[in-house]
Amino acid sequence: MKIVIISGTPGTGKTTISKMVSEINNAQVISLNQMALSDEYITKYDKKRETQVIDTDKLIQYIIELIKNFQQSSESILIIEGHFADIIPNEYFDITILLRCEPYELMKRLESRGYLKEKIIENVQSEILGNCANYLLQKSLSIPIYEIDTSTSSFNEISEKIIKIINGNKIDDDLILGKIDWLEELFQKDKIGDFFD
Ligand SMILES: Nc1ncnc2c1ncn2[C@@H]1O[C@H](COP(=O)(O)OP(=O)(O)O)[C@@H](O)[C@H]1O
Ligand SMILES: [Mg+2]
Repeated sequence: MKIVIISGTPGTGKTTISKMVSEINNAQVISLNQMALSDEYITKYDKKRETQVIDTDKLIQYIIELIKNFQQSSESILIIEGHFADIIPNEYFDITILLRCEPYELMKRLESRGYLKEKIIENVQSEILGNCANYLLQKSLSIPIYEIDTSTSSFNEISEKIIKIINGNKIDDDLILGKIDWLEELFQKDKIGDFFD
């Protein structure tokens, strides 16, 4: 039985990839965004940022219940995907995978999703700064955190990498968190001004 967290900035491909992995490897998926958007967990709508403000404590309790149900079921893999998947207490998961995306590509993906300009830049900046990675690092996990660059890979390639990680096959060292630094890349190309004032 394995509980896998797939985290990452919006647009990195969490929902699409989780669905694909679950179809190939027969896993159950919990999509935190979808769950958080169900009325019971929403406390307020932030108009300016077009986002829901969630009652996190309530949501965590609910997710823990779902995990406990899964642990009593006969299913073997549970994927929990969401950009705030770091809210789940450490003792409830075995594997953490972070999806990453190069800033210009991420911008394109979020634009084609029709996000507001401010929301796009906020998310791209967050990806450049590695916020999701930092949140996960703050959890001081005793398990390795894997990181996959989705910028130029196909859904199939990414799913294959994830399935290898879940099945505990020999994992490429490049997939261990810490190799990707968009800020440094932008700095080297003198392009930080494209995303920060
Ligand atoms: N590896 C990829 N290659 C091309 N497009 C991608 C890739 N990953 C995600 N996308 C596109 O980006 C958008 C967001 O994907 P989604 O799975 O909803 O991301 P998330 O759940 O992380 O927000 C979708 O339109 C999807 O087709
Ligand atoms: Mg999603």
